[in-house]
Amino acid sequence: MYKVSWLFLIILVNIIVYSSTGYKILVAFPVPSKSHAILGEGMVRHLLEAGHEVTYITPHPKKTAPPNLRQIDASAILQNMTGNPVSLKTLLRKEVDLRDTSFFHKILEKMNNAIFTNKNILKLLNDPNEQFDLFLGEWFFTELLSGFAAVFQCPYIWVSTVEPHWQITRFIDESLNPSYNSDILSTNSVPLSFYERVEELITQVKLTAMEKMYLNEKDEKTYTDIIGPLVAARGRTLPPYSDLIYNVSLILGNSHVSMGEATRLPQNYKPVGGYHIDANLTPLPEDLKKLLNEAKNGVIYFSMGSSLKSVDMPDDFKTGLLKLFGELKQTVIWKFEESLTNVPSNVHLVQWAPQQSILAHSNCILFITHGGLLSTTETIHFGKPIIGIPGFGDQFINVNRMVKKGFGVKVDLTFSLVEDLKLAIAEILSNPRYTKKVRELSLIYHDRPVPPGKELVHWVEHVIRTGGAPHLRSPALHVPFWQKLYLDLLVVIIVVLYATKILLSRLFRLIFGKGQLNKKKYQ
Ligand SMILES: *[C@@H]1O[C@H](CO)[C@@H](O)[C@H](O)[C@H]1NC(C)=O
Repeated sequence: MYKVSWLFLIILVNIIVYSSTGYKILVAFPVPSKSHAILGEGMVRHLLEAGHEVTYITPHPKKTAPPNLRQIDASAILQNMTGNPVSLKTLLRKEVDLRDTSFFHKILEKMNNAIFTNKNILKLLNDPNEQFDLFLGEWFFTELLSGFAAVFQCPYIWVSTVEPHWQITRFIDESLNPSYNSDILSTNSVPLSFYERVEELITQVKLTAMEKMYLNEKDEKTYTDIIGPLVAARGRTLPPYSDLIYNVSLILGNSHVSMGEATRLPQNYKPVGGYHIDANLTPLPEDLKKLLNEAKNGVIYFSMGSSLKSVDMPDDFKTGLLKLFGELKQTVIWKFEESLTNVPSNVHLVQWAPQQSILAHSNCILFITHGGLLSTTETIHFGKPIIGIPGFGDQFINVNRMVKKGFGVKVDLTFSLVEDLKLAIAEILSNPRYTKKVRELSLIYHDRPVPPGKELVHWVEHVIRTGGAPHLRSPALHVPFWQKLYLDLLVVIIVVLYATKILLSRLFRLIFGKGQLNKKKYQ
């Protein structure tokens, strides 16, 4: 009897595990940055939990992987991208500006080269036995990864790690209207002033022209040279690049209306922001737990994320910050990669910290950060007010948005950082409106029909089950811009008006021509 029930249990577990249709999914998050890797790992985690078999291309492979995960080690991309010029030091001295498009495109080109010459990636693409039901990749200012879908002849999904923006929506619908949607690297947040509106329009026109003139050509060459032979080896003809890039089935956005704007979105754009946060939080280490539990006046958590290292800080910043924190009655946890001397008793430097678990603690009352989207998401998830010190990328628009929404204060990354930060801390600690606002947004954030992880799994499976979800595609995709703007109608109206004018004047002359001559005579 005992044995039989065990057998029954084993069979039951097997049925539960294997009855769900496990699909073979290829996931690629090749951007060599920790925060992008966190978003990739979140996707993979949910897909694995849903019983799918995942092959994951990543520059940050883990030492151990669960059985239904195969990692493709793309860490060589990291080596190819060394000399990464973005650091606290270079930003402070204004040596780099990622909003400088030509500089940014050089970095992108370097990254694409690194991806498409990577041995392990090419090995996967070259293997004729490899088959996938879906390709899911991060869109990072290039569509080249869609070539993977051409190789495996499967539908594909883009993951956008940021708020919805025109550069990505145009592949499934159309560019977002620049008069109320900012470019992702812009600092303008809505509502836009006249000047900002014009600026946004110029950005869209300028970038589109640059792409048409030379950027697309470069990508297309890589596509033909590298993906072409791979598709040919599988006995197929290469689909035109310009068809492939508009053939994306769905976009999963790492965004949510509580954090961004209520942007109008096409049916196949699904915002699933917050999916990277695991419901089972990493437990706090004992010392941090004790610290947080015993902080009578609350805890301020200070971390500039993974790309801007505190090590690069000028020395007077470090001493200035220590002095500033030491004067506070709150406990300060500072994520810092080195040790300092003369650390005040209320300040605790940690090399590594489970950020989410700290923010989740009821005694954590303020988060000071660079304002990357992951940190922004986490503050809203856990309902903590924020001081944003933006450095690059979408951090500017994120922080500007926090300020406009009213749950954060912005401090610029300049040499007067310490003084500015002092004022910002005083403002947030003395004014309860920031905490009140972030709690309101947190309620909106959590009030969804299904958690984001469940939702993304549903849409991924939906795309596979429906052969690429063509029913979700927007008809706008096939309407040229001159038809949308009714420029053809405008031409018709102009022609008709002009013809009428000529006709009328001829008629006029015909009828009154003589009379007018007569009139002249008698004047
Ligand atoms: C577009 O996607 C569908 C569904 O995945 C596929 O059948 C078709 O071949 C794709 N077309 C191109 C040009 O890639």
